[in-house]
Amino acid sequence: MEESRKIMLKVDGLRAYYKTRSGERIRAVDNISFNLMEGEILGIAGESGCGKSTLAMAMSGLFLPPLTYESGSVFLDGENIIGKKEEELRKKILGRKYSYIPQSAMNALNPTLKIKNFVIDLLKEHDPRMSKKKVLDLTTERFESLSLPPWVIDLYPLELSGGMKQRVVIAVSTLMNPKVVVADEPTSALDVTSQKIVIKLIKELFDEGIVKSVIFITHELPILRHVCDRIAVMYAGEFVEIGETEGIIFNPIHPYSQALMQSILVPEVGIKGKKLPSLPGSPPDLRKPIKGCRFADRCYLAIEDCRKRTIGMVEFDSRKVRCIRVDHIKAKEEVVPHVQQ
Ligand SMILES: Nc1ncnc2c1ncn2[C@@H]1O[C@H](COP(=O)(O)OP(=O)(O)OP(=O)(O)O)[C@@H](O)[C@H]1O
Ligand SMILES: [Mg+2]
Repeated sequence: MEESRKIMLKVDGLRAYYKTRSGERIRAVDNISFNLMEGEILGIAGESGCGKSTLAMAMSGLFLPPLTYESGSVFLDGENIIGKKEEELRKKILGRKYSYIPQSAMNALNPTLKIKNFVIDLLKEHDPRMSKKKVLDLTTERFESLSLPPWVIDLYPLELSGGMKQRVVIAVSTLMNPKVVVADEPTSALDVTSQKIVIKLIKELFDEGIVKSVIFITHELPILRHVCDRIAVMYAGEFVEIGETEGIIFNPIHPYSQALMQSILVPEVGIKGKKLPSLPGSPPDLRKPIKGCRFADRCYLAIEDCRKRTIGMVEFDSRKVRCIRVDHIKAKEEVVPHVQQ
């Protein structure tokens, strides 16, 4: 079924490292490959520091120091955006075709500018010929269609509540109908009511065809479950499992996915900054090259072979898993999550 749909984003062997002043390389995104289809919402889950936000930035093609490009390609609607100059990316790609909604909504707005002046500056950067009136008409119209009160554009970011700020950021980031939107933990800092409104907003943008495909970075199980078509589980810079949502949540195969799903079934808001309760040890040091499976030191199934060689993704039970022990995982019990509505 998937094959008949268009590939909106094709990420192939992407590596993006931070280079620190002391010359260290932090391998935050290491050999990530996946396809995002048109009409698909993909969730990315993984514990704090595994590289989710770095991946979202790297996929934009813009590498701002200390983040550096190492290797791989990112095809956005058929066009490789890796290697494009910053000016071209800012004018033609960012916001227009690929929109990254950063983890903290506040970072996306300028606290010294009213929303309308911020939007005018933003859109004029993309299209200097656009008149102020046109920018404001477009913004007001979009705000209205997303049930955001139009008077909000006359406020400063600090005058908005957290939920409202997040909705404004999402509306503003998608004004130019980007094909791919990456929302980085858009609901983490919000109460349940605001979370629901934000999710509804993203679904509306998607259902109305304003955006074609969405990547949702989140730890919230109800969001993963109700919003995403597929989920990718990330660990120490790599994807360890990717597949259909229900399978990943109720029947995770990779030992790390199992631990992650068990931990996020705990009904608390997010796991950010917390260690997984059911998992001994901690993730590997991303400054050091790692031979073999990155999860081996914490894995109940690890054998000598796991540490000897690079472990690739294997197809298993209609998904992809980075594990050579998949055959030994069959006898596990099914996880029954507690899903908050
Ligand atoms: N500016 C930076 N300079 C050096 N290292 C960085 C920088 N930003 C992030 N890192 C490191 O890169 C790795 C991945 O960080 P990233 O922010 O992408 O993780 P994340 O999965 O988004 O975490 P969280 O869930 O907490 O948002 C971490 O080890 C982090 O310490
Ligand atoms: Mg992050």
